[in-house]
Amino acid sequence: MSARTSTPHHELTLAIETSCDETAVAIVRGTSKQELLANLVYSQADIHAEFGGVIPEVASRNHLRKLPLLVRQALRQTGISEDEIDLVAATYGPGLVGPLLVGLSYAKGFAYGADAAFIGVNHLEGHLFAHRLAYPEVSPPFMGLIVSGGHTLLVRVDAYGRYTTVGTTVDDAAGEALDKVGKKLGIPYPAGAELDRRAQIGNRAAVDFPRPMARVGFDFSFSGLKTSVMTYLRKEPHFGLDDIAASFVASVVDVLAGKAVEATRRHHLKDLVVVGGVAASVTLRARLEEESARRGIRVWVPPLAFCTDNAAMIAAAAVFRYYELGQSHDLSLAPEPNLAFDNPSNNTADPS
Ligand code: KG4
Ligand code: ZN
Repeated sequence: MSARTSTPHHELTLAIETSCDETAVAIVRGTSKQELLANLVYSQADIHAEFGGVIPEVASRNHLRKLPLLVRQALRQTGISEDEIDLVAATYGPGLVGPLLVGLSYAKGFAYGADAAFIGVNHLEGHLFAHRLAYPEVSPPFMGLIVSGGHTLLVRVDAYGRYTTVGTTVDDAAGEALDKVGKKLGIPYPAGAELDRRAQIGNRAAVDFPRPMARVGFDFSFSGLKTSVMTYLRKEPHFGLDDIAASFVASVVDVLAGKAVEATRRHHLKDLVVVGGVAASVTLRARLEEESARRGIRVWVPPLAFCTDNAAMIAAAAVFRYYELGQSHDLSLAPEPNLAFDNPSNNTADPS
């Protein structure tokens, strides 16, 4: 715990997120109730679009260039000085090792210099905490669907910090499938948002793509669907882009919404929380609303800015771990590119 003498509820947390291609910095004040004072995101998407996907080395260099500027900007705009920060948090996995190393090293240096406490955050737990930022009134138990560029996870949340994986992808993540198919369709990386925009214009019934594993358990598979779209595109070179987008996105969201709602029901839960970059999809949100209303389940999806990668969610998870569970890390913490969601160190909350 930091030695400084902050008044209760005024503790300041600086959070850093650099696991992929967004450089993000946030400052929050408070412990059990938090006030978001700064939330800055610099997306490198345009830089990587040129290469058709994220180039780790290029991402690392741009984090290195941009991160100190964003931290300075966050401090300046909030009028907070470095030594007022009580807790410094950074994502330590899962993600790309180089980008993780940049954020983690910077955070450690900052914590050391400011004599603040330090904690590493699991990026996936961060995504889940986006929901707590947006809807603090919804508390566990609930079912969580984390859908991002790298992960598709259904998790039962019995308490914050107590997670059980109910389903995961056996091949591609949902966002990854969207980005890969988008690339084939000539849409720049990352293609999810543009495919979703086109899906709202096109005819979802134009092509009847498969709903992979729709009726088989709670695991997901998107690789076969991706191949079906590629095969279709080869056979029908004069396809209508909006119709293909609508039919493909319909298949992805039908599977995601169908399984998530069914898992919630099967686990006798009333609330379903959906987070991660793909949760920004208007089509997915609409499908979830339909499916959940039919099954008497409440669905919660945070505002767009909290769905895609950001540091406010990292701050929220850090504040929980540090102030509610009393956890922190020492400065030897290393990046863990393959950090799992429900690994023992992430599953440490007292069941009571
Ligand atoms: O959570 P996120 O920002 O980064 C990771 O942790 O991966 O998720 C990025 C993914 C990308 O695959 C991107 O195409 C997708 O989220 N995405 C969307 C939308 N916005 C971002 N997918 C569908 N509709 C959107 N509006
Ligand atoms: Zn993410």
